Amino acid sequence: MEKNLNIHKGKNSIKSFLNPEKNPNFPLVEIPESLNPFTHEKVSIFAKLMTFSSLGNVKAVPGYNMIAEKAARGELEGIENIIENSSGNTVFSIAVVARLFGIQKIQSFVPDEISWHKLLMLLFFGISPIVNREPADPDPADPASGIYKAKELGLKKGWLNPGQYDNEDNPKAHQKWTAKQIWEQTEGKISVFCAGLGTTGTIIGNSTYLKNKKKDLQVVGVMREAKSYVPGVRTEVLLKLIGFDWKKHVDTVQHVLTTDAYRKSMELSRQGIVVGPSSGFALSGLLDYLGKRKKEGTLDELRNEEGEIVCAFICPDGPIPYLDEYFKYLDNSDFPQIKNEHLLKKQT
Ligand SMILES: Cc1ncc(COP(=O)(O)O)c(C=O)c1O
Repeated sequence: MEKNLNIHKGKNSIKSFLNPEKNPNFPLVEIPESLNPFTHEKVSIFAKLMTFSSLGNVKAVPGYNMIAEKAARGELEGIENIIENSSGNTVFSIAVVARLFGIQKIQSFVPDEISWHKLLMLLFFGISPIVNREPADPDPADPASGIYKAKELGLKKGWLNPGQYDNEDNPKAHQKWTAKQIWEQTEGKISVFCAGLGTTGTIIGNSTYLKNKKKDLQVVGVMREAKSYVPGVRTEVLLKLIGFDWKKHVDTVQHVLTTDAYRKSMELSRQGIVVGPSSGFALSGLLDYLGKRKKEGTLDELRNEEGEIVCAFICPDGPIPYLDEYFKYLDNSDFPQIKNEHLLKKQT
């Protein structure tokens, strides 16, 4: 079987390459002792590296599923335009998959605070951005919101709005692949699952599958502290835009600050687990949760039959698209000095 050799060839090579079913598991890597303060309490913490998906980010999985399922239901017939509300990973993943299904024109509503770098990324992938001034009080039913506008446009003949915020094929993708892989990779020994809350597709899909296998598994959802920026994940206010009933899939919510997310992701990256801010964000939330359980004296309740506590957290993407942000949010003392900086040729 070609899956083992990891080769995709022939007329449908890219379709096969983008299909998680036809690919090896995304790696599950235990973080080193230096980053795990609970090592001596038999707690092991694993990073699930969605960076190893075909498009290098978590959205490759639901992006594929949302389009492939529509194709399977015959809902792509006559569709020539795709419109989504997304400023990054989702629309880029959808665009690549949709082109394979014959849809060439991809547009995306993006917020007016979008970074220039992200705009360039959309243009690089051939996606037309439509800048939208988002309302101050986010509400998906507000006709001024990008979500609403994308939905409206998606109703036009020949147009489709995949709608990552309430499309069931988003969480189902994680149920089918991410969670199943984690269950098999941990041989059913996992006690705690943790992920950041964005569209909440990741947490719902994983929680649904894993809790079905193990009722007392704990699901930790990580939310941005108010006014704290971390790309891809949301604050409590921004989560109001999400159509899914995510709260019923999450046991505990942890809040994390910008600097903790960026610093943890830099620490992971320096140790060889090369991941971006929302990965450090999830790890930070997980460590806070374990610390809280220890303080409460309830850590032992998480132990599996072997007396261990096996935890997994999701790493949605890598650090490179956000490189300049690390220098904005972290301290100079976090980085080495450049020697002879004065010799550098002036950059225009
Ligand atoms: C970088 C990054 N982190 C985290 C998430 C959150 O994942 P989900 O939308 O499944 O909640 C996303 C989603 O777009 C993301 O792009």
